[in-house]
Amino acid sequence: MSGKIIDGVAIGQEIREEIKERVATLQEKGCQPGLAVVLVGNDQASRTYVTNKQKSSVAVGMKSELIELPETISQEELLAHVERLNQDDSIHGILVQLPLPKQIDENAVIRAIDPAKDVDGFHPENVGKMIIGQRAFLSCTPYGIVKLLERTGTDISGKHAVIVGRSNIVGKPMGQLLLQRDATVTYCHSRTKDLTAFTKQADILIVAIGQAKFITGDQIKEGAIVIDVGMNRDENGKLCGDVDFASAKEVASAITPVPGGVGPMTITMLLKNTLHSAEKASKEGRCGQ
Ligand code: GUN
Repeated sequence: MSGKIIDGVAIGQEIREEIKERVATLQEKGCQPGLAVVLVGNDQASRTYVTNKQKSSVAVGMKSELIELPETISQEELLAHVERLNQDDSIHGILVQLPLPKQIDENAVIRAIDPAKDVDGFHPENVGKMIIGQRAFLSCTPYGIVKLLERTGTDISGKHAVIVGRSNIVGKPMGQLLLQRDATVTYCHSRTKDLTAFTKQADILIVAIGQAKFITGDQIKEGAIVIDVGMNRDENGKLCGDVDFASAKEVASAITPVPGGVGPMTITMLLKNTLHSAEKASKEGRCGQ
């Protein structure tokens, strides 16, 4: 068997077209959605991610503001920038790219972002609302994965979803979103004993552990849906996921590639969250230009 490859670029593009239309409708009402991206320091990977987010937001007609700050910035100064963006009615989404330099308390920065502009879905208020099933901004990667599963016709209800990785950004919220859609959820992580015993039971296997080709085909149940959140370099410097794609695709019924699977969906959901924020602001008459 050779599994179907889930095309995150195509599905992401479909959703971005819908977003673009809704941005145009908003703009006719005098409201252009605005996304502010804060980049601290010179980390090359962070810069690449931020550039992608900016380009994608402009491509759907949004305003994009990049705030580049030095590695040595103090916490106080960074918080002042966040506060200015909180007050700016032309900005509907604020994203502070992580990780931040060590003198900065990351949690304090996340807490300082207005929850109504927290399009990353990292603020404790949004995380708490998500867990109890209230409307909230959802963390973009797990939200994007749910959309990938939905758009590929996967019925999540009653399935056993096994999540490998327990980060605040991906693993933990991923389990909650699947639980809300009536999956049975198992969390695995670096301390799990006999990992294969769990991964072999997965109808839906989501891998977000941050190690190149960590999960191989022999650890996957025949016919499983495999979602690979990893973004690593292999021994030849080539981009690869946390799943060994070559062996996994022989066992899975469907699998996401790296690149071109989850990555484009993450950015798409960031745009969706920003659009929702601007639509709400417009309805409430506070969409400044
Ligand atoms: N660093 C890695 N992933 C992310 C993300 O989704 N959002 C932010 N703000 N920083 C990140």
